[in-house]
Amino acid sequence: MLRRLHPDQPASFAFTPDNLAWAQGQISKYPEGRQASAIIPLLWRAQEQEGWLTRPAIETVADMLGLAYIRALEVASFYFMFQLQPVGSAAHVQICGTTSCMICGAEDLVAVCRDKIAPRPHALSADGRFSWEEVECLGACANAPMAQIGKDYYEDLTAARLAEILDEIAAGGVPVPGPQNGRYAAEPLGGPTSLTAYSDDRMARNASVALALDIGDTLKRIDGTEVPLVTPWRQIPANADPAPASEPAPETGAGPAPEPARPAALDGPRDAGPDDLKQIKGVGPKLEALLHQLGFFHFDQIAAWTDAEIAWVDDNLEGFKGRVSRDNWVKQARALAEEQET
Ligand code: FES
Repeated sequence: MLRRLHPDQPASFAFTPDNLAWAQGQISKYPEGRQASAIIPLLWRAQEQEGWLTRPAIETVADMLGLAYIRALEVASFYFMFQLQPVGSAAHVQICGTTSCMICGAEDLVAVCRDKIAPRPHALSADGRFSWEEVECLGACANAPMAQIGKDYYEDLTAARLAEILDEIAAGGVPVPGPQNGRYAAEPLGGPTSLTAYSDDRMARNASVALALDIGDTLKRIDGTEVPLVTPWRQIPANADPAPASEPAPETGAGPAPEPARPAALDGPRDAGPDDLKQIKGVGPKLEALLHQLGFFHFDQIAAWTDAEIAWVDDNLEGFKGRVSRDNWVKQARALAEEQET
């Protein structure tokens, strides 16, 4: 299926202060130069905030992580968890249409969605409260056919039960997720054939359903106000109140980001000619040409960049923002410069 940006996009996106604090906490999980690893949680949070993933949101996340926009779009367009168009305000229904579910009745479930929500996938219902789509295997094949609604799975569905579930949601309820035919989990339909001694003292519901009921966010969007948004590696909750000015700030080990400062540049290479900057991992012909334009021709120039200078170059690599720190050019350049000297 083609997954493209929606033709109607908002003008801008900004994380709420709580979500921004949470996002910065996520970014701080990763070692220097590996901040791009935070892309999925940040895109997810942006989607939870807006309801769907807009182009300005994708670009904002890319900027926060020093990524080219196309890299963030590649992630957003790859995973079905990211909705690239507006979805129903009450629920978005994802019907698994892969082999097990198709054999066991997924087409009947799709027919219910066409009838009760909208004739076409990714279209909003008349009241704007529902939307649906068919997705690939969601990994609950033993309980086929199934659907993901909001954050949870509804399994062992029939067309009639799915219709009831949609009616319950339309009336403001949250149907209990999990198997819908009385099965406990994924045991044989006729009942357990092994470990039968344990089936009497099991919990009332299987662990996934119990957790879903406990968390209670099946249809609820997280909005950043959950307290506390724990970032234990920073020793403070991400959305903790800032310390009063009279008290010392908690020690996070991160320190303030340096103010970018332009490194010393050359008008051209020295007499022996430029170094082959493409020896630095992550630097290709385009980046090398860009570095030449900025006045950088030699390994020893790059090896001498300070944190503030790295920040400046990272900001000024049009289309490649963040690459200096991501690929640790300075460390690489130092090794290459030393090799030249020896
Ligand atoms: S085939 Fe539907 S969950 Fe795997």
